[in-house]
Amino acid sequence: MTTSKTGNDWNPGAYDRFRGLRLRPVLDLLRAVGEVPEGPLTDLGCGSGAAGPVLRTRFGERMITGVDASPAMLHKARETGSYDQLVQADVADWEPEQQQALIFCNAVLHWLPDHAKLIPRLAKQLVPGGVLAVQVPGMNDAPSHATWRALTGRAEAGPGILEPRAYREILQPLGQAEIWETQYYQALPASDEGHPVRMFTQSTYGRPFLDALDGSALAALRRAYDDEMEKHYPFERDGTVLFPFRRVFFLLRKQG
Ligand SMILES: C[S@@+](CC[C@H](N)C(=O)[O-])C[C@H]1O[C@@H](n2cnc3c(N)ncnc32)[C@H](O)[C@@H]1O
Repeated sequence: MTTSKTGNDWNPGAYDRFRGLRLRPVLDLLRAVGEVPEGPLTDLGCGSGAAGPVLRTRFGERMITGVDASPAMLHKARETGSYDQLVQADVADWEPEQQQALIFCNAVLHWLPDHAKLIPRLAKQLVPGGVLAVQVPGMNDAPSHATWRALTGRAEAGPGILEPRAYREILQPLGQAEIWETQYYQALPASDEGHPVRMFTQSTYGRPFLDALDGSALAALRRAYDDEMEKHYPFERDGTVLFPFRRVFFLLRKQG
């Protein structure tokens, strides 16, 4: 394994609590991929390996590499048995030994800045006709995400995403591009630990805000966030909530 620059470990247990809901966009992205040329594949920002088994089923004997900055996530990814190799690296400066037929990148790029430079750099790592397949959450203005910033007075948890028009401008010179978005109406189960929307966001967007605190300050932030969520995402009689979640997808097929 190479060394990460980020020192940015994640909590696979908390992330995988909503494995089913988080898998759905993986499947939707993979369905859109179509034919890919000969060559190896990378699951870039593979996390705990949610996409590993479906990539393996779809691509059979092809060489599949998982890349992530988080040792804990890579450890879980290894347990799936779906990857030929797992590499600890930062997506920002990742360079595979060989050009790739598919770079599959689900729910990762919003943690990285400067997509106008990053996407052409990733496209360079593709064989001609190779595919870059990306999904990023488009939720930074939603109450579930904006409330973390409002309550802490801090700016974004991560760099966020661009408007679809901006992605089109970046992608078009590189090959054939498709951009679309889907809003998932997620029914989150009741939880004894707090508001279901916190259960969902605390392992991802909310993580940097929570990690900065401990003790009573941490407990106060959790309580205040739960109170706000109750206003925006009211409980059903059974304690569940409906949590709309927008996701932006794009595919690039590199010029042949
Ligand atoms: C929301 S998870 C998505 C994981 C997986 N792709 C999935 O669909 O379940 C985001 C992952 O991106 C990784 N990540 C975030 N920034 C990264 C970076 N700069 N380089 C490498 N991995 C990064 C995190 O460690 C985490 O595992």
